[in-house]
Amino acid sequence: MATNVRALAAKCSYAVIDKGRSLADELPALQAKVEGKDKGLLQELCYGVLRYLPELEHEARQLIQKPLVAKQRAVHFLILVGIYQIKYTRIPDHAAVSETVAATKPLKHQHLKALVNGILRNFQRKETIVDENLPDAIKYNHPSWFIKKLQKAYPQDWQEVLIANQERPPMWLRVNQQHNSVSEYVALLENANIEVDHIDEFSGALKLIQATDVNNLPGFELGHVSVQDGAAQQAALLLDCQENDNVLDCCAAPGGKTCHILEFAPTIKSMTAIDIEEKRLLRVKENLARLNLTAKVIAADASKPELWWDNQQYDRILLDAPCSGTGVIRRHPDIKWLRKSTDIEALTLLQQQILKNIWSLLKPGGTLLYVTCSILPEENFEQIQQFISENTDAELITIENTQQKIGWQILPNEQSMDGFYYAKLKKKNNG
Ligand SMILES: C[S@@+](CC[C@H](N)C(=O)[O-])C[C@H]1O[C@@H](n2cnc3c(N)ncnc32)[C@H](O)[C@@H]1O
Repeated sequence: MATNVRALAAKCSYAVIDKGRSLADELPALQAKVEGKDKGLLQELCYGVLRYLPELEHEARQLIQKPLVAKQRAVHFLILVGIYQIKYTRIPDHAAVSETVAATKPLKHQHLKALVNGILRNFQRKETIVDENLPDAIKYNHPSWFIKKLQKAYPQDWQEVLIANQERPPMWLRVNQQHNSVSEYVALLENANIEVDHIDEFSGALKLIQATDVNNLPGFELGHVSVQDGAAQQAALLLDCQENDNVLDCCAAPGGKTCHILEFAPTIKSMTAIDIEEKRLLRVKENLARLNLTAKVIAADASKPELWWDNQQYDRILLDAPCSGTGVIRRHPDIKWLRKSTDIEALTLLQQQILKNIWSLLKPGGTLLYVTCSILPEENFEQIQQFISENTDAELITIENTQQKIGWQILPNEQSMDGFYYAKLKKKNNG
């Protein structure tokens, strides 16, 4: 029997929401069980349920008389998968309903077939009423704690940010200019019938009109191009490494920015890439190998340099800090449900600790670039503001692109980019 995509989508949503597993850990293994177009459909259903979870739960509550609990939770998520298809996809309703109902069998809950069928048919027949009085959490499909934080941080823009988080992100490319100039690579893409939507003038990053499999990208296996969001591509430019610099990337995995720095500044003396997660460093090594680049790769804790540092100070340090990921929700909708309000304080403390301990590894006159893919002020400008106030040898360098006073906060979908924060600090020579 062919694998039922709806059953896999229900299992995946159950694993993320009820078991706290990440989408990145769950989805690939499930996608390996299906072929061709079904891989895309499975992704669409899993992302869809996670993007619209509060709204789908709200719809389901009105139709399910007795909550499905314990072992039946997978069927609860199957119902959400069904409602999502009817509400948000072009799959004909009859096919969405029959395929979803059929999924009760592989989920080993065939006795609930009639129940699922009845609920989805009732949903199909239900009149669409837009209820303006719904709580914001349902209206905008985000957790309340997060909406409150955004309202405080961005009183003018919070709604736009929430709407942007629900959008499908574009595919951005980073051209390896060791092989082709940006315009040469655009021509190669055109030859391959891949259309470019936009070129970022600052970084040369390319945005495609439509996402494509990496194997369709000219020279991908040869390292001529990488996939990386436009916001992430600002890091190598802002770090601005010079000839003979010793560079440290202290939270490097999976290595996107390490590799960009090496491509962009091939005359640096050395690159040390560390990360606390040994397993994730395999991805750094794979990326370096594909791009034919070299770095010292070390599994280590950036907050404890006394355990691994060789006492040679660095000219440039990239600190792409562990963060809430609240700037990349459009790419990882599970962040909305896995991240808890109580995590933010712990993350802020960890960032503070790494920043403080890594600062002594920087040469006087050297530059540290602090980066997060968060949009929360406490992880970003407040963090840097506090650091400068406590470290008289730290000087904030203005970032040209922005009018902002402390660093550069990019909000999600600003110029189609992910939400990121950048702050550039220089260590005073006589600090
Ligand atoms: C935002 S990701 C880095 C992304 C990477 N710079 C890139 O561009 O591909 C943050 C990384 O910090 C690592 N990390 C978390 N705590 C750490 C610590 N104490 N020391 C070193 N790395 C840490 C995580 O394992 C994760 O890979």
